[in-house]
Amino acid sequence: MSAPAVDHPRFSAVWSWLMRREPAALTQGRRMLLDGATGRVLEVGAGTGANFAHYGPGVTEVVAVEPEARLRLEARAAAQDAARSGAAPRFVVADGTFEDLPPEAVGAFDVVVCSLVLCSVPDVDAALRAAYDRLRPGGELRYYEHVATDGALGVVQRAADATVWPRAFGGCHTHRHAVAAIDRAGFERVRHRDVQVAPRWAPVPVSPMALGVARRGDAGPAPSAAGPVV
Ligand SMILES: C[S@@+](CC[C@H](N)C(=O)[O-])C[C@H]1O[C@@H](n2cnc3c(N)ncnc32)[C@H](O)[C@@H]1O
Repeated sequence: MSAPAVDHPRFSAVWSWLMRREPAALTQGRRMLLDGATGRVLEVGAGTGANFAHYGPGVTEVVAVEPEARLRLEARAAAQDAARSGAAPRFVVADGTFEDLPPEAVGAFDVVVCSLVLCSVPDVDAALRAAYDRLRPGGELRYYEHVATDGALGVVQRAADATVWPRAFGGCHTHRHAVAAIDRAGFERVRHRDVQVAPRWAPVPVSPMALGVARRGDAGPAPSAAGPVV
């Protein structure tokens, strides 16, 4: 698949504003996402670089790919801020998407980080295959993603996805079965928790999230893996 153009001026402004006021629950999730990560990390769709401050001393290098030019500038600034803190890994912030990750990156990473990004890609299965391929055998996918739910909130998610939500939020789809796609891509989940970032009574479509670590298994993707998951 050729790389989609990612050019979302309004979403970038909104996301950047939101990231400067990030709810404590989301920040806590980022800490848990990266806790214990080691080695070379590939972060795809890094946004403003909101994860950068949370990489620990075991991480040697973070290659952060971000296709939206405005967000990429902010990610570069976040990398510089993190570097000033002293203990940070080396950061490389580059243009790119899941769809155009360079072939020389195949098998080159110990960890791939996906946070709040699988909701925005055109094909979740293809994105996860790309992530799988960039990991060394046994490498980790660390994920912190919106997920589809059922019940009344599931209805709200479907309605949001069918109307304004993707246009307002840079292509984000709230009713995606991201965890099923992770399993289907051939990852073995070793740590997983379901989290809510808003109170359960609140009809916030992005509240249900999944946070965890999944290892690249030896078997590869399930033979039935095909087609996008919406
Ligand atoms: C909601 S933001 C999340 C940013 C960041 N990961 C975070 O946790 O704050 C979604 C990001 O995915 C990026 N994105 C959109 N389509 C993408 C694609 N096909 N491949 C990689 N990143 C993509 C967007 O530019 C945006 O930065």
